[in-house]
Amino acid sequence: ASLELGPYSHFMQKEIHEQPRALTDTIEALIDDNHFSPALFGKAAAAVFEQVDSILILAAGTSYYAALTAKYWLESIAKLPTNVEIASEYRYRESVPNPRQLIVTISQSGETLDTMEALKHAKALGQHLTLAICNVQESAIPRASELVFYTRAGAEIGVASTKAFTTQLVALFTLAATLAKQRGLLDKETEQSHLGALRQLAGSVQHALNLEPQIREWAKSFANKQHALFLGRGIHYPIALEGALKLKEISYIHAEAYPAGELKHGPLALVDSAMPVVVIAPNDALLEKVKSNMQEVKARGGELFVFADADSHFTESEGVHVIRTPRHVGVLSPILHTIPVQMLAYHAALLKGTDVDKPRNLAKSVTVE
Ligand code: G6P
Repeated sequence: ASLELGPYSHFMQKEIHEQPRALTDTIEALIDDNHFSPALFGKAAAAVFEQVDSILILAAGTSYYAALTAKYWLESIAKLPTNVEIASEYRYRESVPNPRQLIVTISQSGETLDTMEALKHAKALGQHLTLAICNVQESAIPRASELVFYTRAGAEIGVASTKAFTTQLVALFTLAATLAKQRGLLDKETEQSHLGALRQLAGSVQHALNLEPQIREWAKSFANKQHALFLGRGIHYPIALEGALKLKEISYIHAEAYPAGELKHGPLALVDSAMPVVVIAPNDALLEKVKSNMQEVKARGGELFVFADADSHFTESEGVHVIRTPRHVGVLSPILHTIPVQMLAYHAALLKGTDVDKPRNLAKSVTVE
């Protein structure tokens, strides 16, 4: 295994660092000759997309958080009403089927039983427009789907998903842009600007990876804690959820994520100096709102750990630690902000001495109920 690991201590660390390459490979497979084209989602994609009036995304675990992120893109860019549902919930409830709804499943392994059964359930209800976004070629879920896009993350060994997640996100962003284009909602200039953002992404992710020494320092403030809170707003809220999940999975520290505006409706009661609060605070339209949410934490003696880009203008002060993420990358900002929360979980787990690649009680691919 040491040969395969190269300079890294764990597969998870290696996979975190492989993201620039994984993203570049996936983006290459998503862009056809300098434009977005449905054919990259399957031969029948143009005809299928033509019929779509809304979207339902089904997934589990980290893939579910990719789905939650995608809802923001699909509604804002493609203007398609999008619902996201946990596969194990959808398969057992009475829902209202819509044959014009595109059923998107997201699964790294392509073998998660609940996601597979949710797909079968959707089809049994007469919903036959299906797209799988999957990392493992010829696995069960893509085989049962009409359209398929394979992410090019390469084999993911660490139980906690990292590079699969960020490659799912670029696939989902591209899906939104492609649907928008087919629906006549994407002008040439915006298309070029989205393509440019995709091309710059791997470089920005590399810059984010270079923050590792600072994040390793921060991890010391988490390793001895029982609880942590992650805050984000808008499209960065799912990234807060993913950050909390990563920390739970591998360091066994209880972590919760909240949309920052919801703080006052409960979790604020928990805030004290024993519960570090991570804030994902890029310079977007919600920045001022996030800043006032941070004040609420600070006023209660909470310690803040803020990931902010250079344009957010945060300064360190007593109880407020700031790491500057690379320059704001606009629509793809959630992908960039995933990198630091992955590294934070990894280094907290290292300090705790847990089995990072094989956390207790968890499996890489859950093929049972
Ligand atoms: C397990 C893994 C997670 C993964 C989830 C969904 O819980 O430990 O890392 O996110 O399954 O897996 P999938 O292969 O469907 O994306």
